[in-house]
Amino acid sequence: MSVYLDHAATTPMRAESRAAYTDALDIVGNPASIHGVGQRAKQLLEESRETIARSIGCDSIEVILTSGGTEAINLALKGLFWSRNAEGTRPIILAPGGEHHATIDTLDWLAAHDHADVRWLPLDAEGTLQPGVLDAALTEAHGSCAVATVIYANNEVGTVQPIVELGRVAARHGVPLHADAVAAYGHVPIDIADLRATSGASEASGLVAVSVSAHKIGGPVGIGALYLSRSATVEPLLHGGGQQRNVRSGTQDVAGTVAFARAAELAIRERVDESERLSELRDVLIAGVHDAVPDAHVNGSRSQRLANNAHFSFPGCEGDSLLFLLDMAGFAVSTGSACQAGIPEPSHVLQAMGRDERESRGALRVSLGRTTTRADIDAFLRALPEAHRQAKKAGLADRDVTRR
Ligand SMILES: Cc1ncc(COP(=O)(O)O)c(C=O)c1O
Repeated sequence: MSVYLDHAATTPMRAESRAAYTDALDIVGNPASIHGVGQRAKQLLEESRETIARSIGCDSIEVILTSGGTEAINLALKGLFWSRNAEGTRPIILAPGGEHHATIDTLDWLAAHDHADVRWLPLDAEGTLQPGVLDAALTEAHGSCAVATVIYANNEVGTVQPIVELGRVAARHGVPLHADAVAAYGHVPIDIADLRATSGASEASGLVAVSVSAHKIGGPVGIGALYLSRSATVEPLLHGGGQQRNVRSGTQDVAGTVAFARAAELAIRERVDESERLSELRDVLIAGVHDAVPDAHVNGSRSQRLANNAHFSFPGCEGDSLLFLLDMAGFAVSTGSACQAGIPEPSHVLQAMGRDERESRGALRVSLGRTTTRADIDAFLRALPEAHRQAKKAGLADRDVTRR
């Protein structure tokens, strides 16, 4: 049995969410049906949507349920781009480097298929998108920017972005901002109404869209949500029965929504205490790694950081070697970056933070969650020196691979 330290990839489903899921699977009825059976399903769906809305501080009409974070991000970015660039006058999309591939690949696709002019903005050494950088890029865009997007908290290095300031910049330029909050959800407080008010968002500019996903907070895989401000206009990705404001057609997943809502309710209720517990464990882990491997260093911001994330660079090692050796020793961790067909790749996030290719390869992400205990951290720290010794002996693979 492995010690699971990869909660940022997905976290175990909560028993309460699983129970709510299986109970709801017995419910008959399409929530779009007129009859009483359908209306009962609809009532349950809408009560759950309300709970999900509360967990992010918005109204339930603003919650578009999707199949997960990836679909929410695709809907926000393609939808806003298609809608705002319908006349071809706003081809620019702004995004920082080091985004999740759900964003990178969506924007690459828009560039290749729809002539989007995607401009990747630099991160600072801690992985932060400085508001001044966004401001300068929006000034240079001269009113031709369709949408700007930013990851709320980086899933790899854990840096939390100054979202209020970034929202304020976007609002001042009259541009809609999307935030990928998949990694942040359940770990940092997300109150969209408050964020919008403090950052001066208007109906269709500033923070208008936020993506979240259930399986990162103890809900099931296969459901997520896009917060979409009432008056933000998006072209839908899916066409059909006109469900969900005509933005996302398709019969709605009552059981998945009920399970998502139950997980959201618990995650929000536990967030403050759990963040405190996890940040203490994380700091024990970081100190222990420093003692065990003095040349290791922590990536990302030390102060603006997810409570459950510790991301290290081990100079002279391949992150994937460490991952495999630790896996053999019974620890499930991650490099945080993509590994294509078993070929080690440098971290695109570290590269966006200005590290060179060699420095971007010895990366390891240890992410904690609800089931993580002090004993897990202690056991990991005992196993690390030997895994590190062997990985260092193997050295860096002699291969030059780069991917954004
Ligand atoms: C920051 C971030 N964005 C998007 C996604 C994709 O979400 P989903 O797995 O729900 O499609 C993930 C999942 O790893 C993520 O961490």
